[in-house]
Formats: sequence, C-alpha cells, structure tokens
Amino acid sequence: MDSIRIRGGNRLVGSIPIAGAKNAALPLMAAALLADGPLTLSNLPNLADIASMRDLLAQHGVVFTDTGSGSTGSTVRMATPEITSTTAPYDLVRKMRASVLVLGPLLARCGVAKVSQPGGCAIGNRPVDLHLKGLQELGAEVDLTGGYIEARTRSGDRLTGGRVVFPVISVGATENLMMAATLARGETALVNAAREPEIVDLAECLIAMGAKIEGHGGDTIHIQGVDALESAEHAVVADRIETGTYAIAAAITGGELELVGAKAIHLEAALDVLRSTGTTVEEHDAGLTVRAPDGRLRGVDVMTEPFPGFPTDLQAQFMALMSVAEGAAMITETIFENRFMHVPELSRMGANITVHHASALLRGVPELTGAPVMATDLRASVSLVLAGLAASGETLVNRVYHLDRGYDRLVGKLSACGAVIERISSETDVQEQVA
Ligand code: UD1
Repeated sequence: MDSIRIRGGNRLVGSIPIAGAKNAALPLMAAALLADGPLTLSNLPNLADIASMRDLLAQHGVVFTDTGSGSTGSTVRMATPEITSTTAPYDLVRKMRASVLVLGPLLARCGVAKVSQPGGCAIGNRPVDLHLKGLQELGAEVDLTGGYIEARTRSGDRLTGGRVVFPVISVGATENLMMAATLARGETALVNAAREPEIVDLAECLIAMGAKIEGHGGDTIHIQGVDALESAEHAVVADRIETGTYAIAAAITGGELELVGAKAIHLEAALDVLRSTGTTVEEHDAGLTVRAPDGRLRGVDVMTEPFPGFPTDLQAQFMALMSVAEGAAMITETIFENRFMHVPELSRMGANITVHHASALLRGVPELTGAPVMATDLRASVSLVLAGLAASGETLVNRVYHLDRGYDRLVGKLSACGAVIERISSETDVQEQVA
C-alpha cells in the first residue's frame, strides 16, 4: 500500500488550481441516468471515487466518452440510451457510499431499482432511512432484503409528486429525492432540504437538462415533474473542501497560497473562522489568496453545522491547525458521531487534545513532531498531511488510498508550492527494506 512521506517545516508559497468538487460530481454523474442524454460534465476531478461511480454507472448502461482534460479536471460525455441493469451490486456499492445516489434516478426512469445497502463507515453509522422514507412519500414501495434495497413504483410506472419533510438535514437524501422528483407526475416539495453548494450545482444541471426546479439553495425545494429530460452541458462547481484544505495548508505552514477558481461564497463560515485565527483571506477575480499571520495563529472555537455553517468535512483539517495555535480551541462535531479518528494520530505528533463526547478541547503547542501515522477516512488522512507539513522532522502518512478518493494530485499541488512531500509506492518500500 502506498504512503506519503513529508519533511515538514517549509513555508508553502504559490498557486494551486482548485478542482471540480467530488461531492458535486458524484450526484451529477448519477443524473446521467435520468435522460438518454448525452450529459457532458467538465471539471470532473481525477479521483478514485469518480472512477468508482463511473464503473457503477457503466454497468447500468451509461456510455462514457472522454473529451478532454485540464487543470481543474476532465470533460466526459455520458449517454444513457438504455438502462441495461437496474441493480447496483454490493461489490461496487461497498466501495463508496455515494453509490446510493443511483437509487432515485433509476427508480424515476425505470420504476424499479435494486441497490445494495451501503454499510456503515469509519465516521459513523450513516443510515439511508431518509432517502427511503422520501421515496416512499413519492409512491415507491421499498423492501430491505438480503442486504439490498428493493424499490418499485406502485403503478410500475412513474413516481408521483409529494411533500417530503426531512426530520434531519441530509445532503444525499435531498439529492436523491430531487433527482427522483424531476420525472415524477406532479409537484414535489422537499422541506428542510440541504442547502449545500453541491445541491445548487445539481439543481442547475438538472434545470439545464429540462427539469423544473425552484427554491434550491433555500430550505424548501419545489420540483414540477416533466416527461423526460434532455442532453445538457455542465461545469462542476469548484471544490470548497479542497479550497478550505489548502487555505489551512497556507495558514499552518506560515505561507501564502493563491487558490485559483475558489469561490469564497461557498465557504464563508470557514473563511470567517480562519480570519479569526489571524489568517488573511482576500477574494479576487481569480479566486482567493490566503496568507498566514506573522506571529502565531490564535485558537478559535468551532462547531460543525449543515451549510452555510462550518463544514464537517473541514473539521479534521481545522483541528490540525488548532493544534499549533496559541491558546485553547474547542471543536464540536454535530453531524457525524464518530469523526475524531484523527485525534489519537495528531496526539502522536505532539498535539494536546482532550475529547469529551462530541467536543475536542485543544491546547495549542508551539510545534508538532513528525511521526508515522494513518487514518481511516479521507478528511482525517488529509489532516495528518497538513500536520506533517508543519511538523519538525519526517511524517509518513499510511493508507494513501483514502487521499486518492478525494484529492486530485495532492502531492503535485503541494510540492509545486514548496512542500517536501513524495509518494512512496509499496514496491519502493519493499526495495528500501531489502536494501
Ligand atoms: C455528504 C457528503 C459528505 C459530508 C456530508 C455532510 C457526499 C458524497 N458526501 O454525505 O462528504 O460529510 O454530506 O455534509 O456528498 N442521515 C440519516 N439518515 C439518512 C441520511 C443521513 O440519519 O438517511 C444522517 C447522517 O448519519 C448524518 C446526517 O444525517 O448524521 C447528515 O448526513 P448527510 O448529509 O446525508 O451526509 P451524506 O449525504 O452521506
């Protein structure tokens, strides 16, 4: 298994192109199932999760044509003249929870879908009950048997519009229901919907395909079902979590980074918190420039919340930053119950962190020290990379496949800005051990 070796202590200075957002791209790709197409997406990041979604969609009948690539991702044309399978098998779904996003589109287009139940994952139990309850409100019958979700429309035909009130805000359930409702008969209201920029991006793409959607970005989304969707072209929105991660990389290394293509409006809460630490964030036409303070960072308290609040997907990275800030910082996780796996690893690097229930209390230390570390999820892994960039000595981050799921050319982007970082393939490891 590959690992990443970092020699910390270098100030990062330079410019980083922000890729298309993974969490926007995955539902956008699933939307290709809704129409014969083609749906052409640009800014698709080069990530393992995108490859997993591609494998899944290909076996449902989506035909992919690669038409180009650039610094923010590739352009892919997806045509679905025929759904060749309405089953999303266990082997493909278990690789990535977002596979459940094919459920709504398959059901909307074919009146039937069988999708392996996504299991729990490192950051918590993560049920899909809200997705299923919502689809039932639109007239689907849902059975859970043999580890599969089996859903069909009662009439064997179209879903019917309805009013879905989410008791908890869910990004994935909002996306699944919004896609399903585009082809339902009549009007659907999604109440207490998620407001994330990825939801807005999906809605805009569906509208370009001919869907009738209003209210996206607010807490109630109205969808008027149409008979069919058509071909469209859409550019995936810039990745706000990649943006936030590199903004923290600038701050934690005492550096200055220009984040090209970043959109401040998609992470205002996080940027406000960064400013409170003493970091300067400037918005301009090309994106954002983030500059670390001359002295030490200040400790700031943070609580994760659905958008527009501070994103849970930046919690681990912010914890790495606060581990070297002056004073104390309290970080409270409200979205996922088990999202502190980075804490023991950061502690091994010298961070002073005490966890009590859903809150972590940090007392900043002047310096972290490099160590071999590993993490069990994507954002926890990148928090260890950030800590390694700031630490003295060498850090070896194991289980790099997590990073491949969510960060396009991480090592290349950081080393271009002065980081001493390299990927070591397991073969090199073996050679080194033999030597
Ligand atoms: C998406 C993001 C993930 C991010 C999360 C929260 C993608 C591919 N992933 O995940 O990176 O961390 O939003 O911003 O976009 N819940 C239920 N029942 C459900 C669905 C969710 O109880 O049926 C709960 C979850 O356990 C969690 C909360 O709702 O506690 C929010 O989860 P949700 O917004 O659905 O996250 P995902 O869409 O899975």
